[in-house]
Amino acid sequence: MNAVTHSPDLAAIERDLGAGFVKARELAFVRGEGARLWDAEGHSYLDFASAHGATSLGHAHPAVLGALHEQAARLISCTPSFASDVRAAYLTELMPHLPGDAERLFLCNSGTESVEAALKIARLATGRTGIVACMRGFHGRTLGALQTTWERRYRDPFAGWGPEVRHVRYGPADDLREAVTEDTAALILEVVQGEGGVRLAPEAFLRAAELVCRERGAMLIVDEVQTGFGRTGRLFACEHAGIAPDLVCLAKGIAAGFPMGAVAIGPRVAELPPGSHGSTFGGSPLACAMARATLRTILDEGLVERAALLGNMFLDRLRGIVSARVREVRGLGLMVGVELRERAAPFLAALLERGVVALAAGPNVIRFLPPLVVSPADLDEVVDTLCEVLS
Ligand SMILES: Cc1ncc(COP(=O)(O)O)c(C=O)c1O
Repeated sequence: MNAVTHSPDLAAIERDLGAGFVKARELAFVRGEGARLWDAEGHSYLDFASAHGATSLGHAHPAVLGALHEQAARLISCTPSFASDVRAAYLTELMPHLPGDAERLFLCNSGTESVEAALKIARLATGRTGIVACMRGFHGRTLGALQTTWERRYRDPFAGWGPEVRHVRYGPADDLREAVTEDTAALILEVVQGEGGVRLAPEAFLRAAELVCRERGAMLIVDEVQTGFGRTGRLFACEHAGIAPDLVCLAKGIAAGFPMGAVAIGPRVAELPPGSHGSTFGGSPLACAMARATLRTILDEGLVERAALLGNMFLDRLRGIVSARVREVRGLGLMVGVELRERAAPFLAALLERGVVALAAGPNVIRFLPPLVVSPADLDEVVDTLCEVLS
């Protein structure tokens, strides 16, 4: 057992001087390497949260560090008003791998910004205002993205700001046929809902989403902020169902933990009016250099196939746990949820006590998002630790 050492001094500083939107735990991480993190007292933890899926190559990956050092010394910032050699190189390298026959890429700095941009693009492309999103979906917290997020406690204090959004059930295709109309600018959904409890969309639902958007002239936005860049065992999760979204939102694992976001834009979107959207930091040379190193590493090291293989091993082993507390184990690739019949929080705390960092996904789901470089031995250790805390 790790015996979590609290760092009350550091936590107190953040409590007193930080904006206080998130209740930070009394534990400070100071270093990481591969799938491991170390706290201020030198104890090590298996990182099965990966900064909510962002540090997909683990910590201190040499390829990413090399790109960071080299580019930081050359040129950090260059706004989109000028071209950049690294940005052009990244766009060229990523484009053939994007789903949905994407033809262009808008670069920004986070997941919520990518959703915000996709919503604006959908409105410009269709001239319509209606948005359809899914129950239990999570798309971010800026004003537009926030209204597409399902969780009422995030949305309600800001009701009336941002677009009108209708939420439909995540699964029944008939609901989509009824909700998406000639007034709908976009339907936005996740292929696997992350924050909403690691829930997989039925393939028929995803196919119906594509079809109904085509029929009614609405844009299909697939939010791959959490599922993208190999997490689910395909480079992008929508490949599992073979659908071609009009807009794909990307972030988190795109640059191995460096803040970056993007929207892949498909052929149904015409030229956008100049100045209709933009970002000072979006697509900075530093972010692009790290994203390029990330993409190359994912492809060269076969991390997508590895996520599929190790994800299946992990799911099999988790499904072998005999415990009355477990309702269901589900997931895709290395995006895995263990739904309990009781609240997950005490078990997350017990895992942390034993040196495993995991996440909640709703009140009773333990979510595991290990880095794609995780080893089979790490997976076994986490299954054994989970067995222990559930017993
Ligand atoms: C599916 C999805 N979309 C959007 C977001 C928002 O991303 P960010 O926190 O980078 O703004 C998240 C964050 O968890 C997410 O999981």
